[in-house]
Amino acid sequence: MTQRDDRALRRQIERYSVRFNEAFWRFWDEQVAPVLPPAPVIVDVGPGPGLFLRDLSARLPEATLHGVDANEAMVENARALDYGGPAPSIVLANVETSQLPYDDASVDLLTIAAVLHTFDDPFMFLREQASRVLKPGGHILLFDWFREPMRDYIARRLVEPGDPEELRYERALEQFRIHNKYTLDDWRWVLAESGMHIEAETGEPHPSARVWLLRPE
Ligand SMILES: C[S@@+](CC[C@H](N)C(=O)[O-])C[C@H]1O[C@@H](n2cnc3c(N)ncnc32)[C@H](O)[C@@H]1O
Repeated sequence: MTQRDDRALRRQIERYSVRFNEAFWRFWDEQVAPVLPPAPVIVDVGPGPGLFLRDLSARLPEATLHGVDANEAMVENARALDYGGPAPSIVLANVETSQLPYDDASVDLLTIAAVLHTFDDPFMFLREQASRVLKPGGHILLFDWFREPMRDYIARRLVEPGDPEELRYERALEQFRIHNKYTLDDWRWVLAESGMHIEAETGEPHPSARVWLLRPE
């Protein structure tokens, strides 16, 4: 594992609880769990270290879980976790340059957290890739960042966990343009243009992120 991979992995692990917190799981219980069948097939796109899959495994003992990530260090970490319930199958693949490695109409819920903003073509991913693998009536759970004033972003990154304190300023400057690509309005437009109906949404888990429960129209 390179030093860069190691840093990214540690950052993802430390930042997990900043996003997948009590407010997130409340949204899950109130909005997402009710639309799932008793034994759902769930794919997490870009699971990183795998902590969300681990939590889903403990909550959904009847589920079949999958993850697909382009980074080898992340895949290794996710494969090595202790899962309280079903262990997911984790595939190493880049889903921007290759097809999602799942059959057509085979997935009840596709989750994608803190990943879609990095794709060059989010429309194609939602419209073609995600919609293809979803069963009729299937859903997408999208978690992503939206643009905030630079001063607020930097101030927040200086106090949030994820990087050693002495590196936080440098990392905040580096990641500003990545996390602040879309305004909330841009996201709504991307979703509408991709044929996604918003069934529910919340901003409660994090002040500069939105969580959407989507269904292809
Ligand atoms: C910021 S991390 C988010 C990890 C996890 N979803 C979470 O919220 O804790 C983004 C992850 O998406 C993966 N990723 C980014 N682009 C990808 C692509 N085109 N195909 C597959 N995985 C990708 C990265 O390797 C990384 O593990």
